[in-house]
Amino acid sequence: MKKIAVFASGNGSNFEALAAACADGRIDARIALLVCDKPGAYVLQRADRFGIPAFVFRPKEYASKADYERQIVERLQAEGVEWIFLAGYMRILSEVMLEAYRDRIVNIHPSLLPAFKGAHAIADAFAYGVKVYGVTIHYVNGELDGGKIIAQRAFDYTGDDLDELEAKVHAVEHPLYVETAARLMKESR
Ligand code: GAR
Repeated sequence: MKKIAVFASGNGSNFEALAAACADGRIDARIALLVCDKPGAYVLQRADRFGIPAFVFRPKEYASKADYERQIVERLQAEGVEWIFLAGYMRILSEVMLEAYRDRIVNIHPSLLPAFKGAHAIADAFAYGVKVYGVTIHYVNGELDGGKIIAQRAFDYTGDDLDELEAKVHAVEHPLYVETAARLMKESR
């Protein structure tokens, strides 16, 4: 069974969706490590409940991004991690990580890329007044929300309630991430 790592910075609902699907066999993989750049993030409690170990770090305590990424790569390799899934990890990766896991890093983003990149995609799209929203899963490169698209799912929303819209986006994200991760694990056997 493949070992994967999930990187997350916050709430961790996508982490939980992946963890539950690994636990019950929908994804043929095991989450060997959660990597989190925010001590105190709620995702750490979720990892605890699943018995998944976490590598928690404070970026400010390192001289550079390359420094902390080297340490993360060391830990990932020690754990035998083969794939990385970003799930609300709000940092751009450097060449250190990209080289170590070339074409094996995947991200989920809450818009139909290339529209609305960045950390506030749902609110930005809502403020723009778009009527078709969606979610993108893509390979990761060194650009913000850049890289080859793997899967997208769109839905109509013409309401005026941002909280409702956010809930709808998350409800699309979770099954799409699980299905896509399951497919990638199957195909990379
Ligand atoms: C998700 O909506 C994910 O798509 C987004 O952060 C949220 C994390 O939620 N990622 C990005 O915006 C990446 N640019 P979660 O912590 O509940 O999984």
